[in-house]
Amino acid sequence: MLAGSNNQEIPRGRHIKALDIGTGASLVYPLTGQSEYGWHFTGVDIDAGAIKSARQICELNKLEITLRRQSKAVNIFRGVIQPNDAFHVTMCNPPFHGSIEKAKKGTQRKWANLGKGRSTKLNFGGQNAELWCPGGEIKFLARMVEQSMEFADQCLWFTSLVSKKDNLQPLSRILGKARIADCKVVEMAQGQKTSRFIAWTYMKKNERSSFAKKART
Ligand SMILES: C[S@@+](CC[C@H](N)C(=O)[O-])C[C@H]1O[C@@H](n2cnc3c(N)ncnc32)[C@H](O)[C@@H]1O
Repeated sequence: MLAGSNNQEIPRGRHIKALDIGTGASLVYPLTGQSEYGWHFTGVDIDAGAIKSARQICELNKLEITLRRQSKAVNIFRGVIQPNDAFHVTMCNPPFHGSIEKAKKGTQRKWANLGKGRSTKLNFGGQNAELWCPGGEIKFLARMVEQSMEFADQCLWFTSLVSKKDNLQPLSRILGKARIADCKVVEMAQGQKTSRFIAWTYMKKNERSSFAKKART
């Protein structure tokens, strides 16, 4: 069921359960995934303001998206995946900078490239935790891999955007130490921008369809 990896059709419908880690104030992935594919989403964020805004969007638009607040910055799946949960896919657009200074510099570079001069704000309306975390993207992803092992039989595919290509190599080393059954890197191109997501699973091929069916209920 991995989108875009081998031209398989993407399954549709509310029975497909997706978990969005770091869903943000505007619920980009849940809104897209729900309207394009009809999936049911659980959105998680550490930021109370983001969850509040996400809740308002759901109420105003009568959307059935489950929202959960992560209370510990070091946790990704811990504390939010409940014992009875089963997800077909988890996804994430991780905070990518290692410090607020780097986040600000990144913003200034983007503004300069757009010919807008200097800006003191973070880009795309992003605030503190949205764009940075200690150790940056690789540390966040390393924690995600480590914690994914604990939920290996509750989630079929774990996925995340990897904004820095250089992070792929250390990430595959980290995944190599986890006992995963499969891993894929899917390249994406939008205009001049290329990006990628990584996906891994602990389930063997012959276990996947029965899990996917069971997770629907
Ligand atoms: C780069 S933003 C992505 C926002 C949105 N998903 C998007 O694609 O526009 C990263 C998000 O991760 C959240 N975040 C940071 N650490 C987190 C954690 N440990 N658990 C859950 N969310 C976290 C931030 O608050 C922020 O909303």
